[in-house]
Amino acid sequence: MVLVTGGAGYIGSHTCISLHEAGFDFVVFDNLCNSSQESLARVEKIIGKKIPFYQGDIRNKQDLQSVFDTYKIDSVIHFAGLKAVGESVTIPLHYYDNNISGTLVLCQVMQENNCKKIVFSSSATVYGDPHTTPIKEDFPLSATNPYGRTKLFIEEILRDLYVSDNEYKIILLRYFNPVGAHKSGLIGEDPNGIPNNLMPFISQTAVQKREFLSVFGDDYDTHDGTGVRDYIHVVDLALGHVKALQNMDNVQNVLTVNLGTGKGYSVLDMVKAFEKASGKKVPYKIAPRRAGDVAKCFADPSYAFEVLGWRAQKGVEEMCEDSWRWQSQNPDGYDSKI
Ligand code: NAD
Ligand code: UD1
Repeated sequence: MVLVTGGAGYIGSHTCISLHEAGFDFVVFDNLCNSSQESLARVEKIIGKKIPFYQGDIRNKQDLQSVFDTYKIDSVIHFAGLKAVGESVTIPLHYYDNNISGTLVLCQVMQENNCKKIVFSSSATVYGDPHTTPIKEDFPLSATNPYGRTKLFIEEILRDLYVSDNEYKIILLRYFNPVGAHKSGLIGEDPNGIPNNLMPFISQTAVQKREFLSVFGDDYDTHDGTGVRDYIHVVDLALGHVKALQNMDNVQNVLTVNLGTGKGYSVLDMVKAFEKASGKKVPYKIAPRRAGDVAKCFADPSYAFEVLGWRAQKGVEEMCEDSWRWQSQNPDGYDSKI
């Protein structure tokens, strides 16, 4: 049985579907601080099966122990965490407590229950401002904000855990920019308030929830001056987790893997692709650069193929079409009636 912490969230809910399709049994554990049970209700509709769900906090040992008491958990996919960069600068202690203390408690409970397999959601943010692209897993690591530091620290904690006991099987997945939604249009990204990330902002502008997109900087050293990123379809990302679990027993040392497509698209490339997929206009204005942004960030994804046999399949067109289906069918996210 796989324990999926944060399984009601954006990436977690899509991963539940992929786990089901690959024949894994799993239980979801989430405190719903950034999600709602509606996402899981919709996943149940898609897969035609009830999902065991525990509402609890990873910082609470008893909450977690009760799951281990009920099920024989042999591995964990650990999505649970807070992820808003700006917010992490304002309330760093809360981020350190939630993400780092939460992971420590999770690891303690795993250890007490002799569960030694974990897949962790890390991020391309651990590469800081990369000196060159594409980014390989052995590039220097740094963080420019508390959110990024929680990812770096957790990676280190998990490496220490492996040093203490080589029976651990640990996979650190460094995601690039997850976008898109499940084909059904039933689940997708549902950010609270004004979206910080590009794709939800574009799709909310296309449904006229926002008046225009602010393009943060057009003077970067990129093909059109706007920032370049490696957007990856969330369903491809979900499949990366299935591959990680399937390859877990072969893992030696801590396996660290980039999950990206290897292709970089600019902000204006994404606006154009979205307009084409949706048939809607996305009005935009050029605005000043956003503090902390880098010009270019995209993966070298070859190691993921080598060690996990995983490679992203879906292109930007499909990412935009699927985001649009989700956004247009659910203009108010999970509060929308279906
Ligand atoms: P999300 O906010 O949609 O999902 C995270 C889930 O964790 C939410 O359902 C939330 O309620 C839950 N959670 C948070 N703190 C918890 C706690 N203390 N106890 C129990 N549950 C808790 O985010 P997501 O986009 O699905 O991201 C999943 C993971 O991937 C996060 O760790 C995030 O940092 C990481 N990540 C995300 C991105 C991205 O762009 N979405 C990029 C790189 C890495
Ligand atoms: C952000 C986070 C990063 C996190 C990643 C994936 C910051 C500084 N970094 O990175 O830590 O790992 O998301 O979740 O928040 N853009 C606009 N207008 C907008 C929004 C974004 O022009 O309204 C531009 C940005 O300047 C960037 C690109 O779009 O060039 C992508 O932005 P975003 O989706 O926020 O992702 P990242 O910047 O890669």
